[in-house]
Amino acid sequence: MALAAKPPLGWNSWNTFSHEINEEVVRGVADAMVREGLKDAGYEYVVIDDCWSTRERDENGRLVPDPEKFPSGMKALADYVHSKGLKFGMYSCAGTHTCAEYPGGFEHEFIDAATYAAWGVDFLKYDYCNKPRYVDGAMLYRRMAMALRNCGRDILFSACNWGHDNTTDWIRSTGAHMYRSTGDIVDSWPRIKELALSQMHEQKYSGPYCFNDMDMLVVGMYGRSFNSWIADNAELTEEERAKRTTEYRTHFSLWAMMNSPLMIGCDVRDMSEETKEILLNRDVLAINQDVEVRTPFVSPHWEDQPESLIRMWKPLENGDYAIGLFNFVDGGARITLPFWDMGLPTAAGYGFKLYDCWKHEEIGVFTERFTEVVEEHGCRLYRATLVKV
Ligand code: GAL
Repeated sequence: MALAAKPPLGWNSWNTFSHEINEEVVRGVADAMVREGLKDAGYEYVVIDDCWSTRERDENGRLVPDPEKFPSGMKALADYVHSKGLKFGMYSCAGTHTCAEYPGGFEHEFIDAATYAAWGVDFLKYDYCNKPRYVDGAMLYRRMAMALRNCGRDILFSACNWGHDNTTDWIRSTGAHMYRSTGDIVDSWPRIKELALSQMHEQKYSGPYCFNDMDMLVVGMYGRSFNSWIADNAELTEEERAKRTTEYRTHFSLWAMMNSPLMIGCDVRDMSEETKEILLNRDVLAINQDVEVRTPFVSPHWEDQPESLIRMWKPLENGDYAIGLFNFVDGGARITLPFWDMGLPTAAGYGFKLYDCWKHEEIGVFTERFTEVVEEHGCRLYRATLVKV
């Protein structure tokens, strides 16, 4: 079956749980995805990241789940996830060892693919640490893709080599369904901004069956993680929390507009109302999941401020346009989008009716241009319908 016609949606353990992952957490996450409506909104993959195995393979060269973290084994856990109507994902690495020094897939690709198929795995994230220096990385992704595509089960192949070795020159041809294009995200605004800016003009390779993965979401983490490198666990004041919520909305809107897979990274068993409002925003999800998944056009606001105020738009399947305005400036700023830039001459006699995807309401019909003051690190996301005026 062809996988990843649209950006994959799901949850991944790394951002919050890191080394502290276990089957109880995974079961609880699967339960929460159903209970909180994430499954109904389209999130389907529940993915265990690094640190799930023992330090050595067994005598037959097979990977072994850590018996303390996963006492019931992976088949039972996959069955549980499947019983909730969700899909089950795991993690390995193209190198000899994973980034946390567990056994990697290098030269065990075919036996590992068979193991994953036997366990009922539906998704494999494949990292790039500890790759033997003189081995071609592209070859390793080609090899694992071949093994997965012939293991007797549909397994979505999520490559994670952080954009190294000119990933976009070869990744689509390997058979991978998504590819990490950046180093790791952390739960902070500067990093969200940095990742988004780094990929804004790197979207032309991304599309159905092979998407640019801008890394797992930090929406809803609010500084909480078992990995202090990802989040520092500092107590946030009310004001800091509110600011973070604005930034999470911008982060989610950017990833959605840029057709990134949306893999939730917070603890979905315990989400705040704001987190739910963001992750369950069907208007934003619809923009990410539009059947045509068109590359957005990115236009900086002024020539001398190319990376501060961003306007971005893309055509949607029904004739509408998704429009995103993003304020990367430290302070409120006015962002103006002349419709002329989108291709609409004023004399044509049309305007755009704008529907606000965060307020969930129509805000009016505009001709010639749209202009709005956007708060610090904030955004606006609209669905625009062309109307006669
Ligand atoms: C990194 C990867 C992260 C996470 C981590 C696990 O290389 O980019 O997303 O998987 O390894 O050790």
